[in-house]
Order: sequence, then C-alpha cells, then structure tokens
Amino acid sequence: MTTPKPTTTDAGIPVASQEHSLTVGPDGPILLHDHYLIEQMANFNRERIPERQPHAKGSGAFGYFEVTNDVSAYTKAAVFQPGTRTGTLIRFSTVAGERGSPDTWRDPRGFALKFYTSEGNFDMVGNNTPVFFVRDPLKFQHFIRSQKRRADNGLRDHDMQWDFWTLSPESAHQVTWLMGDRGIPRTWRHMNGYSSHAYSWVNAAGEIFWVKYHFVTDQGIEFFTQAEADEMAGKDTDYHRRDLFEAIQRGEYPSWTLKVQIMPFEEAKTYRFNPFDLTKVWPHGDYPLHEVGRLTLNRNPTDHHTQIEQAAFEPNNQVPGTGLSPDKMLLARDFSYADAHRARLGVNYKQIPVNESKVEVNSYSKDGVMRVHNVSDPVYAPNSYGGPQADPTRTAEPLWHLDGDMVRTAYTLRSDDDDWGQPGTLVRKVLDDAARDRLVNNIVGHLLNRVTEPVLLRAFEYWRNVDKDLGDRVEQGVRAAQR
Ligand code: NDP
Ligand code: HEM
Repeated sequence: MTTPKPTTTDAGIPVASQEHSLTVGPDGPILLHDHYLIEQMANFNRERIPERQPHAKGSGAFGYFEVTNDVSAYTKAAVFQPGTRTGTLIRFSTVAGERGSPDTWRDPRGFALKFYTSEGNFDMVGNNTPVFFVRDPLKFQHFIRSQKRRADNGLRDHDMQWDFWTLSPESAHQVTWLMGDRGIPRTWRHMNGYSSHAYSWVNAAGEIFWVKYHFVTDQGIEFFTQAEADEMAGKDTDYHRRDLFEAIQRGEYPSWTLKVQIMPFEEAKTYRFNPFDLTKVWPHGDYPLHEVGRLTLNRNPTDHHTQIEQAAFEPNNQVPGTGLSPDKMLLARDFSYADAHRARLGVNYKQIPVNESKVEVNSYSKDGVMRVHNVSDPVYAPNSYGGPQADPTRTAEPLWHLDGDMVRTAYTLRSDDDDWGQPGTLVRKVLDDAARDRLVNNIVGHLLNRVTEPVLLRAFEYWRNVDKDLGDRVEQGVRAAQR
C-alpha cells in the first residue's frame, strides 16, 4: 500500500487531526482558532452553487470530433476541414427536473457540445429533438415555468403543462414527438442530437449557407416505454448518468455521426414555410443529410463539479465560418446563456478550466470576481502600445441583409405553413401502428394525471387537429378511464 498524502488545510499546511477538534481539555468547549475545523465547516456550507434554471440534471464526458468528409465548399471553419481532430466536452440533461430528479422522466434531453477548436470554442447547444415547443423567445420563460412547479404547493402539475400547450398550438409538433417513443431515450448513448435551429456557414469565398446539425447515434435509437421508465425512476434515479460513465469506463466509447442539412442562402427567402421557424423540420426529401464527421466520447470526468456542473455552454460561441441565423429563438439564446452563466458561475466563468479556450485569449476584459489570469497593459483600444488588434481577415462572420419596420408579430405566413401539418405527418407517415398505440397510451396516461375538464376538452381538440383519429382515440381513452 502506498503511504497516504498528508492532509492539509486549503493553504497546504499540514493538519494535526481529521477526527478531533481543538478543545479545552478532553471534555471542554471547542476553540474558535481551530482553523481547520472552521475551514471545513465554512467550505461545506458553500459547496452548492445554484443549479441551472432549465436543464439542471445531467452529466457528460470528454471526447473528440473527427472530420470524415469534405464540406469545405460550405464552411471555412477549421473544425470542419478534412483531417481535423478537435477535443470536445458534452453534457446531456433533462429540462424540467431539478438537480437530483430521475433521469427517466419524459422530457426532451439536452445535447450540449463544446468543441475546443484552433479558432476558439465552438458550442452546439442542442437537444435530442429536431424542433421546439415555441417559436418566440418571449414565450420560453413561461413555457419552462409551466413545466416546473406551482407557486402554492411547490408541485409539478400536468394541468399547468397542458394548459400552456393547448393555448400554444405551435407546441403540437414538439409535444407529439415528446409523447412518442423518443420522449424517453433508453440511454443518452441511444439518442440523436439536433441543433434544431438553422445556423449559418460561410465558405472561403464568402458564400453563406443555412445548416441544421444532426448528430445521429451510432448505437442505434432505443427507448423506454412509460412503464419501464417509471420503474427505473424508482430503482435508479441516476440511470442515464451511470450508464454513460460505466460504458466509457468499460472502453465502450459511444459515437455519433454528424450530418448536416444544407439550404442555399437564397432559397430561405422563398421556401414554402419560414425555414427559421423552430417548430418545423426541414423535410429530408427537400434537404438530405450530408456527412461531416464523427463525435466519440472516450474520457469520463474526474470531478463532476468542476468539469460538468461548472461547464458553461452558449450558442453565441460561433467560430469563423459558422454563425447564427434569423431564428428569433436562437437570437434570444445568444443573450440568455452568457447572462445565466454570469449569474450562476460569476463574470469570469470563461476562466474556469473546463470553459477555457485552448487557444490564446486576447480580449480586453479586465478584473471582476475570481479573475485568475493576469491582464497586461494596454487595457484599452485603440492604443499605440502594441495591444491586440482586431483582424477582419481572420473572421468570417455571416452577415445578411435585413430591412423592415419595427413590429411585434409572428413570422410572415407562407404557402405551406401551419402548426398541425408536420406533427400530422409524424403520426401518420413515420410512426407504425405499435408506435401510434404507445403514443395514444402515453398521452392518455399524462392527461389522466389531474388535468381539469376545460383543459381536457382543449387537449382533445389539439390532438384532433394533429390527426382526427388520434384525437378521437385520446378522448375515448380518457373517458373510458374516468368511468
Ligand atoms: P422522413 O421520412 O425523411 O424522416 C422521418 C424521420 O423521422 C426519420 O428520419 C427519423 O429521424 C424520424 N423518426 C423516426 N421515428 C421517429 C419517432 N418515433 N419520433 C420522432 N421522430 C422519428 O420525413 P420528413 O423529413 O418529411 O419528416 C417527417 C417527420 O419526421 C417530421 O414531421 C418530423 O416530425 C420527423 N422528423 C424529421 C426530421 C428531419 O430532420 N426531417 C428529424 C427527426 C424527426 P432521424 O433520421 O433524425 O432519426
Ligand atoms: C440550458 C435558456 C431554448 C438547449 C439553458 C439555460 C438557459 C436557457 C438560461 C441554463 C444555462 C445555464 O445555467 O448553464 C434558453 C432560452 C431559450 C432556450 C432563453 C429560447 C429562447 C433552447 C433550445 C435548445 C436548448 C431551443 C435546444 C435546441 C439547452 C441545453 C441546455 C440549456 C442543452 C443545457 C446546457 C448545459 O448542459 O449546460 N437554456 N433556452 N435551449 N438549453 Fe436552453
């Protein structure tokens, strides 16, 4: 056996005992100057940091991304050039549950990636679903509140969830997806990740393309039925976290193939619906998948707190050759994440090692709580003392033309634009009979959990709008159980 290292205080000073406090005689009172005791108590009292508002429960791993196909015609981003290999961090999560909540509750899963690229950190903060519940960021906060807990009794409440959904018809596509099989993945390894939003790419010639990222699982899609998930929630709250950790420990490294859908810049203007509407997919028939590379996870965290809990992902981390799009949700996320990190981790969260860029940082940011890297003069720009200079030739920011009056209104409706069409396609064309039966059962079971009559009536109508037969079956199922 190796000799254990000597215990020290946080200042590195050897401590005399880790079992006995300093007292006046064996039976006497404790002395305030037992600094090690005080330090231990003080540290303990400050161990918890605020949990993420949404996506509080999760875990992740480190890995790498390798480019397997040449997409340089569409982007000049170094991370996507042939032969490039880039270190990554991923965090998977549920959305509505708190930090200790069961992994197998029905919920979308977060799929947040950080690529430590040679041009700075590139983040792809996606979900395991290709769409979202709302298309205007003003509704996001309200949507999340409706999925969390009531003000009065602190309980989660299906009535509140269905109240919001049925008053927000744009949620139908995402709710159909959520109530289906993919609403409870068997493990994080057995689900896809999607950017959901359209982003932009710019090639070396300055041409802009709109892209959607799809990380397709190489393990295959597998799901839990509601009954299996309920049982697992009681047996092992941390089932997904454990599964990923143990798979990597065994050397079974999960991987995903990155594919992108690519829309030429001009086509977005005339496509049959607004391609930046986050409640819709781009049909594969119109925009097929192009392979880009493979993501592999091969290293577990060694300290969950510093490497996962303190990880900060933000969709605004776009590198030259990649960028945002006119999706209103995405543009709001551009502000929201960095703001959340400043609140949760402090203004200098980018200096926490897991969030640090692997390339030199030369910003003019200065001081603030917990800044640990030295700043050097000059501390302002422009300056004539050799400070960093912005170099537009190194950036490739997709800049598009926009013009119009200031308004508060929905996206302009186009020829093939409604809230029910794509979920209807999913139900009728993608699902088979068995999957449709499970969808009906999942919806009925969810509605039977204390959803009140007026909301129930709206829910039956909501599902009839998605698919007449589905709505009828949901109503019959609920009424039969109520008898
Ligand atoms: P396609 O037939 O080309 O695509 C159907 C896609 O549906 C599949 O490729 C698969 O996506 C996905 N899918 C399969 N089973 C399920 C399920 N149980 N729950 C959710 N998704 C499933 O048709 P379209 O592209 O015209 O899309 C039809 C519908 O499929 C959409 O309305 C949407 O709901 C759903 N879908 C479409 C995606 C897209 O990007 N076009 C992506 C995911 C879902 P995958 O290959 O990503 O596993
Ligand atoms: C987490 C805001 C939509 C994926 C978060 C957090 C906030 C937030 C504040 C917590 C961040 C933290 O404390 O670290 C928003 C807003 C949205 C939005 C304002 C819309 C206007 C979306 C969408 C997706 C998504 C559409 C997926 C496509 C995620 C993921 C996380 C997250 C994966 C967890 C990141 C992690 O693992 O640390 N979101 N969100 N969000 N969000 Fe969103």
